Amino acid sequence: MADITEAPEWAALAGHQTAMAGRHLRDLFAEDPGRADRMTVTAGGLHLDYSKHRVTGETLELLVALAERAGLRERIDAMFSGEHINASEDRAVLHTALRLPPGEALTVDGQDVAADVHAVLDRMAVFAERVREGEWKGFTGEPIRTVVNIGIGGSDLGPAMAYEALRDYADAGISCRFVSNVDPADITGTLAGLDPARTLFVISSKTFGTLETLTNAKVARRWLVERLGDEAAVSRHFVAVSTNAGRVADFGIDTANMFGFWDWVGGRYSFDGAIGLSLMIAIGGERFREMLAGFREIDEHFRTAPFAANMPVLMGLLGVWYTDFFGAQTRAVLPYSQRLARFPAYLQQLTMESNGKSVRADGAPVVAQTGEIFWGEPGTNGQHAFYQLLHQGTRLVPSDFIGFAEPFEDAAADGPGMHDLLAANLFAQTSALAFGKTAEEIAAEGTPAAVVPHKLMPGNRPTSTILARKLTPAVLGQLVALYEHIVFVEGTIWGIDSFDQWGVELGKVMANDLTPALTSAEPPAELPDPSTAALVRRYRELRG
Ligand code: F6P
Repeated sequence: MADITEAPEWAALAGHQTAMAGRHLRDLFAEDPGRADRMTVTAGGLHLDYSKHRVTGETLELLVALAERAGLRERIDAMFSGEHINASEDRAVLHTALRLPPGEALTVDGQDVAADVHAVLDRMAVFAERVREGEWKGFTGEPIRTVVNIGIGGSDLGPAMAYEALRDYADAGISCRFVSNVDPADITGTLAGLDPARTLFVISSKTFGTLETLTNAKVARRWLVERLGDEAAVSRHFVAVSTNAGRVADFGIDTANMFGFWDWVGGRYSFDGAIGLSLMIAIGGERFREMLAGFREIDEHFRTAPFAANMPVLMGLLGVWYTDFFGAQTRAVLPYSQRLARFPAYLQQLTMESNGKSVRADGAPVVAQTGEIFWGEPGTNGQHAFYQLLHQGTRLVPSDFIGFAEPFEDAAADGPGMHDLLAANLFAQTSALAFGKTAEEIAAEGTPAAVVPHKLMPGNRPTSTILARKLTPAVLGQLVALYEHIVFVEGTIWGIDSFDQWGVELGKVMANDLTPALTSAEPPAELPDPSTAALVRRYRELRG
């Protein structure tokens, strides 16, 4: 496999960047005001404005040529058809099959994948409805009022983010809580005040071998049994989501109450399947299916739209443009929606566990920079925290702004509605970041000369703006699918395997090995390195 950085398209982009580096967005807009209308794409209910990027028509042509050189079209087809593109684990990558519409067939490795997906979704919907209707009763005959999802990584971030995003649609009087950390504060804080008779635990773990999840699940089981006074209560209060029926049974959960998925769904790509069970209980099967239809719309757009008008392709290529040609290290994701407060954290796993790689799929070291660092907070909170650096810092931080035209519910004090205040802030920020304010403009306001440099707003800071009418289940599905495919585009250009995560394994093994050193009566003889040995000694002293 040739390295993409050796391709003529890469060299062409490097040369073009030299020309673009000195060009300001002010000039690009002055020369071509029509870019505001032209540099937009609509897919499903999402409208993307990418005119405030440091690109021209030529840049886009060069980026699309790079995508073609990297074989993006063939890779997309390979993913959707179930080829084993997760090379290091020899697995298909088929999260797109989780949202296949009923009636559409897909057979992979001799297995009717579409039928499997719908069988699980149907079982989930039946179970969710029974819980929502109060037909599924706890051990003492009470209906369920709280669902506690215990999982970590993809078995937590997806459902937790989506529940928060769609909580206005939770219409059955059932709320969800999420426990992930092995820090005891997480589970004890979550269980505090809960009525065990009305609580259902969903133990979510693809492998059912994750230390944090199993430990929290055991603590929850003990809490329940102590309070309800009978081991038999477990079967009415614990269900599992996993690919590993054997381990679920070993834990003591009846596999009749297990919802499965498959090794071709990566953990961070899984909440639109069984890992979304807690969400489905909260919002109902119908809303969940609306969300899947949203995912599907973007899948279809990604699969069929020409690259130059393809939202995930354009956004992925812009990520490559800034990462590899402008040396940007991070990308901020700034949702102007409190409901999307967990979206940046969710994206951190999706993007960084996928593309934080330094070898290519064939094992050769990468030459290009990979893996943007994703971070962010909802607007307007971020404006009063880190936007100073975005506006005037020395670093280039391309940012994705996400906003909605309609709130679920508006409020007002004595002025305009709060939602319009929120939206005005989004538009103001992207404009200020792009166009800034010149020294002349600042001086003309009567600013003393010595203060002018401090007030100077350089602008030329690139942003994408994604607008949708309202944060509905379908729109949430579209947003998540958009970022899943952005990850895919970037990973394809970089030639890496975006679907394994070997880098998380060593730390897990070492934590297991180190635990006895913290808990044994005698100080440990052997530890992995002198610094760790000293820290363990200090920890033991402090712990007494
Ligand atoms: O440690 C990383 C990871 O393997 C993630 O990829 C995954 O989402 C998470 O742990 C949880 O894994 P599981 O669902 O198997 O408990």
